[in-house]
Amino acid sequence: MENILVVENLSHIYSAGTPFEKKAVDGVSLSVRRGEIAALIGHTGSGKSTLIQHFNGLLRPSEGRVLINGEDIFESKDTVRAARFAVGLVFQYPEYQLFEETVYKDIAFGPGNMGLDSAEIDRRVRESAQIAGIAEDVLEKSPFELSGGQKRRVALAGIFAMEPEVLVLDEPMAGLDPAGREDVFRFIKEYKERHGTTVIFVTHSMEDAARMAERLIVMRGGSVMLDGTPAEVFAHAEELIASGLDVPQVTRVFMRLRELGAPVDTAVYTVPQAAELLLRLKGVR
Ligand SMILES: Nc1ncnc2c1ncn2[C@@H]1O[C@H](COP(=O)(O)OP(=O)(O)OP(=O)(O)O)[C@@H](O)[C@H]1O
Ligand SMILES: [Mg+2]
Repeated sequence: MENILVVENLSHIYSAGTPFEKKAVDGVSLSVRRGEIAALIGHTGSGKSTLIQHFNGLLRPSEGRVLINGEDIFESKDTVRAARFAVGLVFQYPEYQLFEETVYKDIAFGPGNMGLDSAEIDRRVRESAQIAGIAEDVLEKSPFELSGGQKRRVALAGIFAMEPEVLVLDEPMAGLDPAGREDVFRFIKEYKERHGTTVIFVTHSMEDAARMAERLIVMRGGSVMLDGTPAEVFAHAEELIASGLDVPQVTRVFMRLRELGAPVDTAVYTVPQAAELLLRLKGVR
């Protein structure tokens, strides 16, 4: 199956039929291919978190449906259960959800619920801890003794250990310092490379989206405003800026160069690309 996740005309209304009614997601359709890495971007309140909570059946669509491996999540109790295991959802600040006595038990919690035997659980805990950069001796510590960055790693390892087919992360790098952001970025990549996992992550950072993802899905007011490769999306740089969204710094530099009359386009979003184009412009290449 090419598309592991298909969203069909999905809408979500909170508190329907009350004075607080709010349409948070409005007619979203998208298909995500197996093994793809996509970033979901948009203003605060644009519906990103609401949308992704439909991907593992945590929220039920008000309209439309979500298919995992071609199967409607809400088809039956079994499909809901299958979706919970196929799609691993990591909330924002997942470290607040650690609760076990030891790091080991926390990482083992998800796979434990899947009915795996203890040897398989042990294998998964150790492999996930290793990918998330958690040393052996940390496994027997209490999660509450750890630093914020370490706790984030434990929370990630706990999801890795479930070996989901789709990994969905809500702002996985929020609140971390640059080194911590880089680490999380690396762990996700490493996990993805080992398991061929599909990854969808929410971010507020266009820079992170541009360098991590091969596809950007931009949301505005509950709908998808742009969806494509970074080059396709940043070709709409003016539109993004007009709606108050950011673009990578190098893209801004190229927009300015074009204003000044240089024959460049704005579908530039990484520093190496920019260097290559500038050299070509100068006739060096
Ligand atoms: N449980 C809820 N009940 C009612 N309204 C909600 C609820 N959760 C979110 N909303 C509203 O739905 C809209 C979309 O919220 P959502 O959290 O999905 O946006 P977001 O893009 O994730 O924002 P952020 O970038 O701030 O995390 C917002 O207007 C929000 O206030
Ligand atoms: Mg959110």
